[in-house]
Amino acid sequence: MAKLKVAVVGLGGIGGVAAACLALSGRHDVIACARRSIDALTFDHHDESTRIPLTTLVDPVDATPVDWVLLCTKAQDTGSAAPWLERLCGPHTRVAVLQNGIGHQERVAPHAGEAAILPAIVYYNGERLAPDHMRLRHIRGHDLLVPASPLASDFAALFKDTPIDVGVSDAFVTFQWRKLLINVIANPVTALTRQRLGVFHRRDLHDLCLGILRETVAVGRAEGAELDADEAEKIFETLLGYPAEAGTSMYFDCLAGRPLEIEALNGAVVAAARKHGIATPLNGAMLALLKSVSDANAEAFSA
Ligand SMILES: NC(=O)c1ccc[n+]([C@@H]2O[C@H](COP(=O)([O-])OP(=O)(O)OC[C@H]3O[C@@H](n4cnc5c(N)ncnc54)[C@H](OP(=O)(O)O)[C@@H]3O)[C@@H](O)[C@H]2O)c1
Repeated sequence: MAKLKVAVVGLGGIGGVAAACLALSGRHDVIACARRSIDALTFDHHDESTRIPLTTLVDPVDATPVDWVLLCTKAQDTGSAAPWLERLCGPHTRVAVLQNGIGHQERVAPHAGEAAILPAIVYYNGERLAPDHMRLRHIRGHDLLVPASPLASDFAALFKDTPIDVGVSDAFVTFQWRKLLINVIANPVTALTRQRLGVFHRRDLHDLCLGILRETVAVGRAEGAELDADEAEKIFETLLGYPAEAGTSMYFDCLAGRPLEIEALNGAVVAAARKHGIATPLNGAMLALLKSVSDANAEAFSA
């Protein structure tokens, strides 16, 4: 495969790990598009730590069209990353969106010109230990999952000979909703209670969590996800099996006073429910409460 130009927009846990893996393979020209200049990344994987030289741009004006863009900002930062997308996207560019939630195409297309867009489910854990220090942990099965499409095999080929395993699925929508189901309770409940995943062992939260999950299952089914009759209960069991001491990204963003990814999670459920005439009062409550927190954080953040 010929060397391709790959731009990674957003050098947090997910983008940092993706940029490190691609740069380490030496098979492509990797450019990181970030808000601060970094000339090398330390990449931790299993018991190894490697220092990898990296080319970083900090001003979109310096960017030119590339073969692939990996958009790795939080969903709420897609708008602020628009100047990057506008400079990096030409008619042959492909944009992979490594973000939680659904609606990747709708969120990114207005900023990507003629570029083709590929949504990706992120299963790996990417931890940013410092602005130039990332750790990759594999959680389960594939690290990334993309829908079966003409773009999918090219995307999987990008990560050949790297620690990131890319899966391709015909049942992408179902997997997307299964991931969303975890996120619509794990993120808001840990953020609102300011407690890590151990909080889900409180019996008095179970009815609320199952209520949010059942609403979300109904919406997911209406959107074409093939979810089981006991999907809500199974998802909740899965969540109870996660390490009690683990946090969620919304929990950490909440503690740090940053804007929150609530619109892409419970907000996406509420928006999809509206199309199908499905009532989602519990998702609506999570959305209203955390949007208030997020808006106040955003105001303080930009002050
Ligand atoms: N981390 C995980 O393990 C994990 C797992 C599954 C899914 N996800 C999802 O993956 C996505 C990325 O998550 P993450 O954990 O990597 O988030 P993150 O650590 O917050 O990183 C996002 C990065 O984007 C940068 N950014 C924001 N706006 C930008 C702009 N306009 N121009 C350039 N850079 C910009 C941020 O810069 P600053 O550093 O300057 O703020 C930050 O470095 C999210 O949708 C998340 O929910 C994450």
